[in-house]
Amino acid sequence: MSDHSISRRRFIEAGALASAATTLGRNSEASPLTPAPDGAGDFFRAAPIPLVRVGFVGCGLQGTEHIKNLLDIEGVELRAVCDIVPEKTERAQKLAKDAGKREPRAFTRGPRDFERLCAEEDLDLVYTATPWEFHVPVMLAAMKNGKHAATEVPAAQTVEDCWKLVETAEKLRKHCVLMENCCYDRPELMVLHMLRKGLFGEAMHAEVGYQHDLREIKFETRDEGLWRRAHATRLNANLYPTHGLGPAAQAMGINRGDQFDYLVAMASPSRGLQDFQREHLPEDDPRRKERYVLGDVHTAMIKTKLGKTIYLVHDTNLPRPYARYNVFQGSKGIYSGFPPRFYFDGQKPAHRYKALEEFAAEWDHPLWKADRVINAKNGHGGMDFLEDLRLVECLQQGLPTDFDVYDAAAWSCMVELTATSTASRSKAVDVPDFTRGAWKSRPPLGIIGG
Ligand SMILES: NC(=O)c1ccc[n+]([C@@H]2O[C@H](COP(=O)([O-])OP(=O)(O)OC[C@H]3O[C@@H](n4cnc5c(N)ncnc54)[C@H](O)[C@@H]3O)[C@@H](O)[C@H]2O)c1
Repeated sequence: MSDHSISRRRFIEAGALASAATTLGRNSEASPLTPAPDGAGDFFRAAPIPLVRVGFVGCGLQGTEHIKNLLDIEGVELRAVCDIVPEKTERAQKLAKDAGKREPRAFTRGPRDFERLCAEEDLDLVYTATPWEFHVPVMLAAMKNGKHAATEVPAAQTVEDCWKLVETAEKLRKHCVLMENCCYDRPELMVLHMLRKGLFGEAMHAEVGYQHDLREIKFETRDEGLWRRAHATRLNANLYPTHGLGPAAQAMGINRGDQFDYLVAMASPSRGLQDFQREHLPEDDPRRKERYVLGDVHTAMIKTKLGKTIYLVHDTNLPRPYARYNVFQGSKGIYSGFPPRFYFDGQKPAHRYKALEEFAAEWDHPLWKADRVINAKNGHGGMDFLEDLRLVECLQQGLPTDFDVYDAAAWSCMVELTATSTASRSKAVDVPDFTRGAWKSRPPLGIIGG
């Protein structure tokens, strides 16, 4: 480890000033991005892989949905599956066999067995849907063993880990992709399509977030109940920023013409989980001793280098219907989600939204016109299938992936940065520029005909 990285690590341990120190330290370094003739970074172009051999780590609820998708996509071979619970890998093996595919090898020798998978198996891609704390170790092990890496959200919990992903991907020239399914949802892609065609004018502001009453899920004695609640005992932050932020960043061209600049964050009191403990758990349940620091409604405002604004919310501990806000505002129109609707300058009647369906025939994103996407059954409707399909297609064709390691880092670093600002009376915190200036010249996201 270099002196530079040791002193940087000490900064991180010192707490609240960590993010600013990391930002400044890394910003002075040169970007290794090399422009290719079409303007994309060379680094994003891997050789085409006609048959994509996949190892999957974390075969729980969401992992199983991805496994079903991958088994459904031509030119994919699921070669290995890994989980700390053997029944979960057996379920994945059975899914493969029932689909008429070869049985993947199982890795079930404990929480670091993904390292053996990465070292021993001949794979192109390692894809992880483990609990959050394993995303970075799995992706680093994958890349260090010559594989591309993909992860469920968020990619990382700290700014330091975001830098590790960026530096490793750059050095080893491997894809390191955050699989943010909401970037592929129908309304989000329709907004992108309309924005690119000029309907919104200039992108100005977004209001996004993750608003999902997870109280019961967090207290289950299986699946996410085994790990997700623990994060509420350690961090008052936006623990899950990317479902809202990814699509907003995609539309605003973050890392591609604009960049996050700084943020301020604050949180409401923390009540929902302790109320749930008291009202639903037996007197002698050890979980009653847990104390939560996560504010129930955590909000942040992010300013971009071009002056655009994003309001970002994490709201998972109070009674409420599911939403992600999904407001996207341009100089000529506005989209508002849940329910999805649009209003454009000059629209009649004035001051009233029109439902998304009234625009769909003309403005649905081309990717959402495919029957296999519309009819996809596994996990969150078509968006999960579409994100898996796009990843595989990009690898097969040797294209840059829709989202890359810079997106993974820029969206995921919000976990630490929102904690830092919240802990310091909403002090403004700089967002690191993981592209080291290359955002100024990188072309807009290629996705996808929009
Ligand atoms: N994009 C989405 O819409 C969406 C939805 C749900 C979950 N997720 C994400 O997917 C991930 C998994 O969530 P989930 O709901 O499937 O949780 P889960 O608890 O059902 O699945 C996690 C799996 O990982 C396994 N695991 C734990 N530690 C491991 C290790 N060290 N090595 C290998 N396997 C290990 C567990 O046994 C379990 O099977 C999380 O990152 C979560 O944020 C995303």
